[in-house]
Amino acid sequence: MANRWRDTGLRYGLVTRLFHWSMAILICWQFSGLVLGRLFGRSGLTDFLNSTHGSLGATVLIMAAARALWGFYNLKDRPAHERGLLGHAARTGHVVLYLLMLAVPGLALLRAFGSEWGLTLYGLQIVERGGENIGWMIAPARLLHGTLAWTLLAMVGGHIAMVLIHRFVWKDEVLNRMAGPARQVTPAE
Ligand code: HEM
Repeated sequence: MANRWRDTGLRYGLVTRLFHWSMAILICWQFSGLVLGRLFGRSGLTDFLNSTHGSLGATVLIMAAARALWGFYNLKDRPAHERGLLGHAARTGHVVLYLLMLAVPGLALLRAFGSEWGLTLYGLQIVERGGENIGWMIAPARLLHGTLAWTLLAMVGGHIAMVLIHRFVWKDEVLNRMAGPARQVTPAE
């Protein structure tokens, strides 16, 4: 029973899957308003999708931190990457995804805490408008928030492309580790 929640050498467990798929939905929501706005201009739909930008970003930050801790806790029990260059690339890609999921919202929140615009999260006024602008808190996000966010989108695209190649070209088990049955069924069951 415990195996359903924890990762094993063959499968990701339910906790990891919950993190993975719920964050996939949140990140998809986050980018859908931004991408639609870029492609077709501002509309009621993009205003609606973007109205949750800060709160949704803060949620992604909290979940990415919790997910990273859970990942470290399960590190020895997770499905291993394959050997060689491809395995190295996959490992590096996952580490970069984690760093971006932390840095993109983290830098934006730092900027919000140090700027005159104030910050409202989940409907709560966290920082009042009209404070002073603190240069070192604002500069990193001004420089990097957008660029790193689009890099994150590109990395997510690459991640999905690789999963599809694993599934339909190499026809291996990689997608099943995150989407197949969470528990390994043994012949004794
Ligand atoms: C998963 C988390 C996040 C993602 C993926 C994300 C993504 C983006 C993207 C793609 C842009 C547009 C950049 C452009 O126009 O080229 C943007 C802009 C912006 N975001 Fe975020 N964001 C996240 C979290 C946050 C958070 C937590 C805040 C603040 C509370 C925030 C505040 C802003 C602001 C103020 C802008 C407009 C100014 C700018 O481009 O830097 N974002 N974000």
